[in-house]
Amino acid sequence: MKITVIGTGYVGLVSGACLAELGNIVTCLDVQSEKIAKLKEGIMPIYEPGLDSVVLRNVQAGRLFFTDSYEDAILGAELISIAVGTPSADDGSVDMQYIEAAARDIGAHITEYTVIADKSTVPVGTAEKVEAIIREVSGVQVDVISNPEFLREGHAVYDFLHPARIIIGTTADDAKDRMLQAYEHVDCPKLVMDRRSAELTKYAANSFLATKISFINEMAVLAEEVGADISDVALGIGSDPRIGKDFLKAGPGWGGSCFPKDVRAMRHLAKQKGVPLPVVNAAHELNEQARIRMAKRLEEKLGSLDQKKIAILGLAFKGNTDDTRESASIEIIKYLLNHGATVIAHDPVAVVAPNDLDGYELAHIDCPYKASEGAHAVIVATEWEQFRTIDLLKLRKSSAGDLLVDTRNLFDPARAKEAGWQYLSIGRK
Ligand code: NAD
Ligand code: UGA
Repeated sequence: MKITVIGTGYVGLVSGACLAELGNIVTCLDVQSEKIAKLKEGIMPIYEPGLDSVVLRNVQAGRLFFTDSYEDAILGAELISIAVGTPSADDGSVDMQYIEAAARDIGAHITEYTVIADKSTVPVGTAEKVEAIIREVSGVQVDVISNPEFLREGHAVYDFLHPARIIIGTTADDAKDRMLQAYEHVDCPKLVMDRRSAELTKYAANSFLATKISFINEMAVLAEEVGADISDVALGIGSDPRIGKDFLKAGPGWGGSCFPKDVRAMRHLAKQKGVPLPVVNAAHELNEQARIRMAKRLEEKLGSLDQKKIAILGLAFKGNTDDTRESASIEIIKYLLNHGATVIAHDPVAVVAPNDLDGYELAHIDCPYKASEGAHAVIVATEWEQFRTIDLLKLRKSSAGDLLVDTRNLFDPARAKEAGWQYLSIGRK
């Protein structure tokens, strides 16, 4: 099938490359011409393990193309998938400018019946609005369906090709059939439902997962007080299949480009509709506290953060990605800076721009041991695999202080103690 994917970010580029891997002929479109120029040269605009080889293989096979021209991208497309950003607006609602612009541009170039699949995470009712915009601009009959995406950054290629389910939100048979054909070679349940249910499913999934993490973070605080180990508790409850082991890692709160903005959007929608969401609201509030809880514990230990040098290992919002959007690491750094500390950082791939730190020029050092030189304390903020195997003795020797704050429970407390650290981790004795 001839498919166009609009937006070549984490979702669009992965979807485009994987849909080509499944045998479709795919054109990826983005309004950022520099991004498209790089992709044509085989340069990936994001760090996503395994993506480059899927892109290269499908470009070479003549199944994957890149363009910045709507005219070229829309011509002859049997399915158009929208994967542009839907960031939060200042009031917590969803900023729909990219979706609306894409809808208008599709409308300006479409000439025949096409199915448009909304893959971006969008408020309930968006498919109807996008359909109205396209019909109004073009006068052409189209079906807009909701097809939310559930991939995780860092595992995006695997997740796209091996999803737990594919949601197809439409009541139009032609549209449903095209979607089933595009995903023909993906072996998973394909759940067909109406558009509004599909749109709400996406927000409900992210809010549920975020709530699950907030719950375990709440238990972690209690575990510290009663002398229990949160990893054992997580294993203990997660072994019950009704609860499940996934998403029970205590940490510095949920961040990233999705959970925070989607929970905000959910709360905003509920407020508009006059529906109280006490569970989701509590998960959000707990998360605000979880993000800086370990920085506060460090402050208590040091007496004050003023004029202290703190090394932070990990800037990305989780391991295996270069994405720092709403990273807990940034919240921790802001807290340290606001309380008079200086911060030196190391991350295997991610960088934080001054704009995200109220103008502060963060020093990025390419080695964890060098970053920790002369530091009063070291904070591990991201669970990069290479941090797990770090030489704790070498790290201790390069650091001036003996406080190691592990917000991801990467190390064995006994090993950290042996290496000479006062070790603070989450939900452990
Ligand atoms: P992103 O910011 O990485 O990429 C969006 C891309 O869209 C950018 O390259 C941008 O230039 C392009 N774009 C913007 N307006 C455009 C237009 N009018 N025409 C063509 N291109 C345009 O965003 P993302 O992380 O890929 O997220 C995209 C959507 O998918 C969001 O709604 C997000 O909530 C959802 N989602 C994201 C993830 C994830 O892991 N990142 C997972 C599931 C769902
Ligand atoms: C998340 C969802 O997992 C995807 O299914 C969804 O498609 C995506 O959001 C989205 O809608 O964009 P992602 O943001 O890539 O994916 O990252 P996750 O692996 O879910 O992690 C989100 C946050 O929760 C991170 O800050 C992570 O550190 C934290 N987390 C995750 C925990 O603290 N504990 C856990 O057990 C799991």
